[in-house]
Amino acid sequence: MKVLVIGGGGREHALAWRLAQASRVSRVYVAPGNGGTVSDERYDCIDITEPAALREWAIQEKISLTVVGPEAPLAAGVVDEFRAHGLRIFGPTQAAAQLESSKAFSKAFMKRHKIPTAEYEAFTDAAAAHAYIDAKGAPIVVKADGLAAGKGVVVAMTAQEAHEAVDFMLVDNKFGVSHNDGGARVVIEEFLQGEEASFIVLCDGKNVTALATSQDHKRLLDGDEGPNTGGMGAYSPAPVVTAEVHARAMREIILPTIRGMEKDGIPYTGFLYAGLMIDATGHPKTLEFNCRMGDPETQPIMMRLKSDLFEVFWHATDGTLDQVELQWDRRVALGVVMAAHGYPLSPRKGDRITGIPAEAPDAVVFHAGTTMQDGDLKTSGGRVLCVTVLADSVKLAQQRAYEVAARVRFDGAQYRKDIGFRAVHARNAPQA
Ligand code: AMP
Ligand code: GLY
Repeated sequence: MKVLVIGGGGREHALAWRLAQASRVSRVYVAPGNGGTVSDERYDCIDITEPAALREWAIQEKISLTVVGPEAPLAAGVVDEFRAHGLRIFGPTQAAAQLESSKAFSKAFMKRHKIPTAEYEAFTDAAAAHAYIDAKGAPIVVKADGLAAGKGVVVAMTAQEAHEAVDFMLVDNKFGVSHNDGGARVVIEEFLQGEEASFIVLCDGKNVTALATSQDHKRLLDGDEGPNTGGMGAYSPAPVVTAEVHARAMREIILPTIRGMEKDGIPYTGFLYAGLMIDATGHPKTLEFNCRMGDPETQPIMMRLKSDLFEVFWHATDGTLDQVELQWDRRVALGVVMAAHGYPLSPRKGDRITGIPAEAPDAVVFHAGTTMQDGDLKTSGGRVLCVTVLADSVKLAQQRAYEVAARVRFDGAQYRKDIGFRAVHARNAPQA
């Protein structure tokens, strides 16, 4: 069977890597892929991104199964396009992907279906937004309504910061957010305290299978300082998700979401990623939904997955996920993102990368913003690589990951030195 992975980041590299090990898979195509997939004979890279053209190519090539990595093609309706032509594809439809692509949609959905989340209001009028901030006070969170590659959120510790965020989101659009129909809109919501975790499940429209838990590190700098990014590193499992928190997240968030979407006439298929904020009493609330896997969470999760990923997707696209029980490596997986100079605001491209060690059973360097240029590997995006390892403890995983990262060289490389720090001190026994 030939499979296609849509996307070109670290998440897609990790999905392609795991799919290439599946027994029924003869060939893995990645569209468009990156410098890592193009220079590896296990994959073929296809330089097509437009949904209809990709669908045409998939028909010609007799692709048996397609998996979508990033949110943009989902929001553009690639799943609808493939399905309309009888192709098997795993992901949410354009309508279902609104859970991620529109904060206003997902917040209204959660309110309607009583899914725990921060209190909020949505605004198109700047004056009304400013008045709301004055009434509520800081800390408060301002979010752009539209896809912003993880950058459209300002957690304002002062009212001043919140007012500024409203101005540049509604008035100046400084982040370059692609706004939804009806123009610029912001969601302003209650600041939630606690510890975050990524809770990702597979859905076939009805049945749900949870992936191993994970935790991402969204801030650029050690100790969770500096600006928000797409994610600077992740590890699995996340000790903050105890068996009890896991059960609550399924019962109070995931299942009501799947049932709610079904009830609203938009059955949900694909990965569903709930970003959770878990308070001191173990009560999880939804920070956001993503309609895809996390990046970089996917990299450690794929390192731990022992089940045949192709068979899992086959069941997920047949509506028989209830027959799947995922098997996980009991070890800890940990991924350290190496980012380009200037990331996240203005990542520099074109720096030459050297020293990436060959893949080992316990260490894989997944590529993201890389490209092959005249036989040289060069940086071509913000998050460049994700050094991902397996080890018996978080501490050992850190040691191993940083040992590998130290060998990789490119000018301006930045990476956090503390990935997994919360788990090192955690006393909880995590759920898978
Ligand atoms: P989002 O893209 O909505 O997940 O937001 C990005 C990051 O902003 C999250 O991972 C949190 O760290 C932070 N954040 C978002 N919403 C809130 C909130 N209501 N309270 C506290 N922090 C938040
Ligand atoms: N790592 C966070 C995300 O993929 O949204």
